[in-house]
Amino acid sequence: MFIQPAVIEYLMETKNPLKSAEQMMTNLPKDALIISMEIVEKIIQDTEKTKGVSKNKISADIHHKNLTNKNPLAQETCHSGWKLSLSKDVDTEIEIIRDITGQSLCEGKIENFAELFLYRYRNLSHLLKRRQGVRNAIPLNRIKKDGREISLIGIVADVRETITGNILIELEDEHDTITVLLSKDTMNTVATVVKDEIIGITGKTSRNSDLIMAESIIRPDISLGHKKNHAQSDISVAFLSDIHMGSKTFLKREWNRFIEWMKGKTGNEKQRALARSVKYLVVPGDAVEGIGIYPHQEDDLEILDLFDQYAALSEHFKLLPDHIELIVQPGNHDAVRQSLPQPALDKDIQKLFADNTHFIGNPCYFKLSNVEILSYHGQSLIDFVTHIPSLRQNRPAGIMKEMLQRRHLAPIYGGNTHIAPEKEDHLLIQRTPDIFVTGHVHVMEVGEYRGVTLINASTWQSQTDYQRMRNIEPHPAKLPIVNLRTGHVTALDFQTHFT
Ligand SMILES: [Fe+2]
Ligand SMILES: [Fe+2]
Repeated sequence: MFIQPAVIEYLMETKNPLKSAEQMMTNLPKDALIISMEIVEKIIQDTEKTKGVSKNKISADIHHKNLTNKNPLAQETCHSGWKLSLSKDVDTEIEIIRDITGQSLCEGKIENFAELFLYRYRNLSHLLKRRQGVRNAIPLNRIKKDGREISLIGIVADVRETITGNILIELEDEHDTITVLLSKDTMNTVATVVKDEIIGITGKTSRNSDLIMAESIIRPDISLGHKKNHAQSDISVAFLSDIHMGSKTFLKREWNRFIEWMKGKTGNEKQRALARSVKYLVVPGDAVEGIGIYPHQEDDLEILDLFDQYAALSEHFKLLPDHIELIVQPGNHDAVRQSLPQPALDKDIQKLFADNTHFIGNPCYFKLSNVEILSYHGQSLIDFVTHIPSLRQNRPAGIMKEMLQRRHLAPIYGGNTHIAPEKEDHLLIQRTPDIFVTGHVHVMEVGEYRGVTLINASTWQSQTDYQRMRNIEPHPAKLPIVNLRTGHVTALDFQTHFT
């Protein structure tokens, strides 16, 4: 039998690929010659009918939460002719797909880091082997000095520039370490290789030295033409990152404008309809300002107690219409461990919030009304800027693209981003989301890469002295909103509009 690559990809994304493959094999039609996604989908449908097993149960990696209410779906027609759903009449569907919360097995020993990197290497080299060019990559200890074409996969142990402007990479796998030369004349991607990332290389061996001459660099990357999942109705999700409640620079006036708009009290007809379509609000980290995050932070605090900061945030959330569901993720200013992956906020803090507020870890894969979101606060955005000269902190969409190409949220170890040695690497981008959202750098940018919507979700804090010192110019009080049926993105500006 032949198997389509999409089927392999689907199986590899399930919790237990071997078990899923076995399940599929036992249910295959007898005359099947080519196993296509259509056949797999039919098997899933048949299994659902007979056993009540859903596709999501096969693919859900960790805990799984489905929240529904029984209101019928309703739509509203505006005078201009376009339709947006009344979000309050649409069922709530929140499903957590992958999250560290309650799953942390971290012991923090040195050997755990070796295990983490091995996990990362094995997963990403597996993904890389599907890519043309490195499909037949050989282990590094089997290289011969014969001047032949060769392909290799390894983790970048070191990368440095020579006096003549070429790049030397120390590449490592489970067996050996070798040196690869990237000539500035033959390659234009030389400046993008970062320490600790896993790459594929095509090139030639030398006859008289151990040096490998690289011809191309291949990254795991996401597949071309990702087809977005859609909600059934025109409901929306809005992203508001980096609220920094408790800071003296929290933008109260702009926040109040946002609340008034959400209540349908301000804006033109189209903007009011948009407000009514919002069903979910996602906060990708730095919900509060926190305490002791940077030197002399107390001078910048309006609310000095951490619990009081969350209590104030909860009061602000209570001003939103009742039908809104909030999804709150921690960032580096929040009251959880600083190392990634970060679990959801503590139960004692969660108790301060109403039932419509859901707490997730950082990063987290989840679905809102069938649309898959990868939400990540974005601590490592700065590390990318430090290591790749062409990237800019105020252009995060370009950095998010680099993450997707490496299929890793924080490949560089030992920079600004602290990483906990968990048994599994939760920073791997194992699934291709429909929306990839980050925060942390306090700007708003929307982009698209291979069918994935990229969003950095602004901030609700104006420039602090600390940011002024570090030359960080925020784009505050912007609200990116995604229509979950069409994928269309709209952004509202509460700094200059809704006055
Ligand atoms: Fe922030
Ligand atoms: Fe942050």
